[in-house]
Amino acid sequence: MTLRISVIGTNYLGANTAAGMAEFGFEVIGVEINESRVKLLNEGKAPLYEPGLDPLLKKHTDSGRLRFTTDYREIADWADVHFICVGTPQSDGDYAADLSQVDSVVEMLAPHLTKPTLVVGRSTVPVGTAARLHERFRAESPAGDGVDLAWQPEFLREAHGVDDTLHPDRLVFGVASEAAEQRLREVFATPIAEGSPVVVSNRETAELVKGAANAFLATKISFINALAEMCDVTGADVSELADALGFDNRIGRGMLNAGPGYGGGCLPKDLRSFMARAGELGVEEIITFLRAVDEINRRRRSRIIDVAHELVGADWAGRKVAVLGAAFKAGTDDVRSSPALDIAGRIQLHGATVTVYDPQATENARRVRPTLNYASSATQACEGAHVVLHLTEWPEFRELDPAELKTVVSNPVIVDGRLLLDAEAWRAAGWIYRAPGKP
Ligand code: UDX
Repeated sequence: MTLRISVIGTNYLGANTAAGMAEFGFEVIGVEINESRVKLLNEGKAPLYEPGLDPLLKKHTDSGRLRFTTDYREIADWADVHFICVGTPQSDGDYAADLSQVDSVVEMLAPHLTKPTLVVGRSTVPVGTAARLHERFRAESPAGDGVDLAWQPEFLREAHGVDDTLHPDRLVFGVASEAAEQRLREVFATPIAEGSPVVVSNRETAELVKGAANAFLATKISFINALAEMCDVTGADVSELADALGFDNRIGRGMLNAGPGYGGGCLPKDLRSFMARAGELGVEEIITFLRAVDEINRRRRSRIIDVAHELVGADWAGRKVAVLGAAFKAGTDDVRSSPALDIAGRIQLHGATVTVYDPQATENARRVRPTLNYASSATQACEGAHVVLHLTEWPEFRELDPAELKTVVSNPVIVDGRLLLDAEAWRAAGWIYRAPGKP
């Protein structure tokens, strides 16, 4: 019989998981408390911009294999496996993760579970959460000890969510029973057959893997950004340095692009939640280490502002600044912890008039920073600008014609915060071009 899967929470992670499970051939119901989102999803529309997700949702809402509901009773005894995919944002006022959405899943689901079942957490949580939730399910479900609980962390990159769901580079099963491992092998039979490696461990290891992976990725970014400063004072080129480092297989080229630092909905908050949990557990070493990583990341934004200020040469007040990019990286409309938007906001606070252009994220950016100006094209954003800042690596910014753009700005000065523009071409067209980390 076809496995029945419920996916609880249908934001970024849940929408990808639900569509992916349907693509693997299972019957899937997504559960979501937000009614308007359920309506949208049932029409095959994702709640956010993610390349390839809408067509996959539509394919399976049309095939009848996938639907969405607000009612937990529909899924409780219907599903063989329940995936928890709700958010775990940073708490207001401290570094720890806010687990209220995860706990509310227990409250909504547990009272309706009367048959043996497997609950699988995918959300990013502090180590120890799975064991605690398992105890709650046992105590609060009519099925009692019949409820098993495993952790299977996700490693989805925004803008590659569909691909990362269907073809994961690894699968980590944190289990407390042989039966849970077998069930997870059944659920992920397709990627396993394709060659995705599987690591089976206990739940604590699975919980730690996600935080550790993100902490390591953040460390690589801060490492290269710290070296960018070394390059600035010595005349070395950080991009070429990264290429040379990357050819060493032990290092690898990934996550070694210097720039305005990491942002987004995961890396910054996961790093902080990891530190908070280490603090609770009394593991000081990891906190000292990660605090340095986080501080380098914050300083990177100030560094870009300082370079721009130096080039503007006077007070920010009365200056016009064009910011190319608002999303935290290209390929997404997500502006959470976006370095681009933060830099734009801070320069505005110094008294400049800041105009932002982003091909996808304008609506979200406007919601977060309503006082910035927003343009509908890069050229429009640059009109009358005294300095242009390139802060999100959308391909269209690399296609801008420096000669043409020079005719609309007040001063042909550009800070390439992403180090990706063709320096020679911009300089040849008469621009002052600066990319922190490059000569
Ligand atoms: C990240 C992890 O990659 C993913 O495995 C995890 O599940 C969630 O967090 P994502 O937030 O989509 O995914 O972004 P990612 O592509 O990893 O980039 C994170 C941030 O680092 C972005 O702000 C990006 O611009 C920045 N970055 C990335 C760099 O500054 N340099 C790099 O070389 C790579």
